[in-house]
Amino acid sequence: MSYINTEEKGSARVMHKDYNNTAAGWANESIAIAVAELLDSINKLYDKNPERFENSETSFSIADFGCATGGASITPLRTIIDRVRQINPDKEIHVYLEDLPENRFDLAFMTVQEGLKDYKGVFIMAAGKDFSQQVFPNKFLDVSFSSLTAMILPSHPAPLDDNLFFLVNTENAETERGQKWIEGLTKHWAQFMHSRKAELKKDGLLFVTVSVNHNPNKDYQIKENEFYHELVSQVVKKVLAKYNAEDKIASCMKTTISAYKEHFLDVCNSIPDMHVISSNDFDVKDIFYHEYVETRDQKTFGKYVTGLIQGWWGGVLEGGLAQQGMDQETIKEISKEVFEILPEFVENHINTYPEYYNLLTLAVVRTD
Ligand SMILES: C[S@@+](CC[C@H](N)C(=O)[O-])C[C@H]1O[C@@H](n2cnc3c(N)ncnc32)[C@H](O)[C@@H]1O
Repeated sequence: MSYINTEEKGSARVMHKDYNNTAAGWANESIAIAVAELLDSINKLYDKNPERFENSETSFSIADFGCATGGASITPLRTIIDRVRQINPDKEIHVYLEDLPENRFDLAFMTVQEGLKDYKGVFIMAAGKDFSQQVFPNKFLDVSFSSLTAMILPSHPAPLDDNLFFLVNTENAETERGQKWIEGLTKHWAQFMHSRKAELKKDGLLFVTVSVNHNPNKDYQIKENEFYHELVSQVVKKVLAKYNAEDKIASCMKTTISAYKEHFLDVCNSIPDMHVISSNDFDVKDIFYHEYVETRDQKTFGKYVTGLIQGWWGGVLEGGLAQQGMDQETIKEISKEVFEILPEFVENHINTYPEYYNLLTLAVVRTD
């Protein structure tokens, strides 16, 4: 008897196995900006509760929610560990890598173990569970960290067939579809916050980064909307049509929403005993676009951006089609075709490619 539902092949949320090589460098640009905020929050934690850091009898526990294959976990983990060890070189540290059960934890372990191998007394473990629910025991964690993950919803709150993900803007925010997406985010984010609160010790820190949209959209966000809209209509729809699978388009889109900063903050402020200690947003450089500006090498740009998109969407495309009951052979053909066409599409759409993305860093402390 099997305890695993083998009917559900793939998942529409986890990252591609090549995420570290294709997308983690791009994501790490946001980490480079966020670490200063993270360090500042850890210092505030120390000021509030020095005993937590100075006592060598207890361990210090850190969880990374949505670790994927670990390529973007090392810098934030090292930032926290270095600060803790600066205060107390003997402090034992427990690191928990967290993601959905179907995530490639093998790759995450290899990457993070390698990235932290020079520390003694740092123990790396993992938890595979949907983080909408409580993952760790009550009052268990000192620091919960999550980068570019909490804006991924468990499912599509309303059908989406014209963009790879939902970007809130002044035109769609008040529509029925926009309202459903915002309600979906509010529900998911509130669940996330309540679950993280339960796991945090008193004075524990939740540090989250999410991509957000400005109200009204910044110029590069207007471009972003156009770029991904055209990608769907000119590439994805055409390939699906070739396989008589146009009706499956909505299942291939991400469940990600790029909402306004207020949508996240309003929920944080409604959770009792969770106090926002900082919330800032930054324009993060798209590393591939900025390299292209230097080199003017369109081919390399097309290749890198295709890799990036495959990193965060390839698994969703294949998983979404599998959930619709499509056979694996056809799925592989569709995926291959889409990612073969993409480099040229990207090369021809540099003028609408977004030069930046907007990142919200949120630091929240449990006060009770
Ligand atoms: C865009 S990747 C971000 C990876 C990495 N943190 C970074 O900064 O590059 C999002 C990750 O969140 C995970 N994820 C999405 N929804 C989740 C959920 N409900 N529970 C646990 N993990 C989730 C995905 O599987 C994926 O690995």
